[in-house]
Amino acid sequence: MKKIFTAVTGIAIAIAANAQVNVKVHETAEDQPVIAKEIYGQFAEHLGRCIYDGIWVGPDSEIPNIDGYRKDLVEALQTLKVPVLRWPGGCFADEYHWRDGIGPKENRPKMINSNWGGTVEDNSFGTHEFFNLCELLGTEPYLSGNVGSGTVEELAKWIEYITAKGGTMAEMRAANGRKEPWHLKYLGVGNESWGCGGNMTPEFYSDLYKRYATYCRDFDGNILYKVASGATDYDYNWTKVLMDRIGTLMHGVSLHYYTVKGWTGSKGSATEFDIDSYYDVLAKCVEVDEVITKHETIMDVYDPEGEIDLLLDEWGTWFDVEPGTNPGHLYQQNTMRDAMVAALSLNIFHNHAERLKMANIAQIVNVLQAMILTQGNEIVLTPTYHVFRMYNVHQDATYIPLEYKAAEFTSPSGRPMPEISLTASRDSEGNINVSIVNPMVDKAQTVTLDFDELKPENITGEILKSKTVNDYNDFGKAPAVAPAPFTGFKAKKDQLTVTIPAASIVSLTL
Ligand code: AHR
Repeated sequence: MKKIFTAVTGIAIAIAANAQVNVKVHETAEDQPVIAKEIYGQFAEHLGRCIYDGIWVGPDSEIPNIDGYRKDLVEALQTLKVPVLRWPGGCFADEYHWRDGIGPKENRPKMINSNWGGTVEDNSFGTHEFFNLCELLGTEPYLSGNVGSGTVEELAKWIEYITAKGGTMAEMRAANGRKEPWHLKYLGVGNESWGCGGNMTPEFYSDLYKRYATYCRDFDGNILYKVASGATDYDYNWTKVLMDRIGTLMHGVSLHYYTVKGWTGSKGSATEFDIDSYYDVLAKCVEVDEVITKHETIMDVYDPEGEIDLLLDEWGTWFDVEPGTNPGHLYQQNTMRDAMVAALSLNIFHNHAERLKMANIAQIVNVLQAMILTQGNEIVLTPTYHVFRMYNVHQDATYIPLEYKAAEFTSPSGRPMPEISLTASRDSEGNINVSIVNPMVDKAQTVTLDFDELKPENITGEILKSKTVNDYNDFGKAPAVAPAPFTGFKAKKDQLTVTIPAASIVSLTL
């Protein structure tokens, strides 16, 4: 197949002879892990237009809102089912002082958001606005504490302010309009402490973690789950030192992995790319499998019982910002290629369900690989949003092992890349959900699913595909990428044959 690219028409998706893939579905396998719903977690940072414009427009805005939160966004996120939301950063977290974000808005100090474009932050979205949002969405809050520029006392008092029933902090909370404490489970002790969170060594951070964690108390039945600030992608030594020095004083250790070309120079356009770049991005994305495996191998040495979880609390694509936007605001469009990254990543995360207990895509709105983009009154649901919605059936479902050999090829930058990727799980009602990704732009693939015992019936399907993988959804236009019903399957005894069109993502419920 010839490579074809023009910025106008994008990468041609061709119809060539079908490739055949045989998959054994072991739906009778016992003792399989549950795919933690938190793997579908989100991340909201005070960065660019994520909080302001994205989530929060304020109660006096002309944009329809529920107590200041954009109504369209809240409804879209309710449909998505967001299990956990990480806030206020990111790098912002280590410069955030929570007392600036409570009480009458006119008294809240303004700060310079030095990490993200030097924007003035007026602190109008603070603790109350975040926890009330989580309640509105039915989402578990995940608080990132300031270790880099804060104090132990400051973080300890924040926990008390949020979760205690009595004492001065609780009285202050009540005076600010919230009598009952909120529920808080996840507490991140710093963020990227090797970089923007303080440029520390893992040894120094480990000692600091223990100080902070000791004084963040469980109040009135609220039990904290403490997360140590973990490694970035290939820094295995960071994980090793934390496992050795902190051990079970942490409930989880985090990891960050971005699908990014490199940290210096151009990261490439989010929308205008050729076929080489398409496959390079996908190949970099699937490398997360090896990265997670290597961190898990280290964790297994120190914690063979699997008491400490791994949390990939930042992941996703990172491209150049959209032309004409603030480089510090990380606003990028989102194409069918991003949908592929999302689906391939989620399939991989499911395979690590034993140890990987959370993943938070960066970020929920208007920043990096967003679910939603906003512009004035309008919102756009991105291709990534559609993947998360199609895949939410796997939340808290039991993993089903699949046996298949995916053909592999080498991407132009030399990374291996599978030609097909599948995942399956059983939900609490007994439905089996199978999700299949065909990243190949030049061929459809016929997948034969062979079940242990099941005779597949009552099958429904949905497909996400577009004319070209460069397609994206834009303001004021009909969506170019949206899910549609899918009927390209045939059941016969304990077999299901599915034809997956080129460059598409298919979800089936049996
Ligand atoms: O998600 C954007 C930034 O990426 C976060 O603030 C930081 O933690 C990471 O480097």
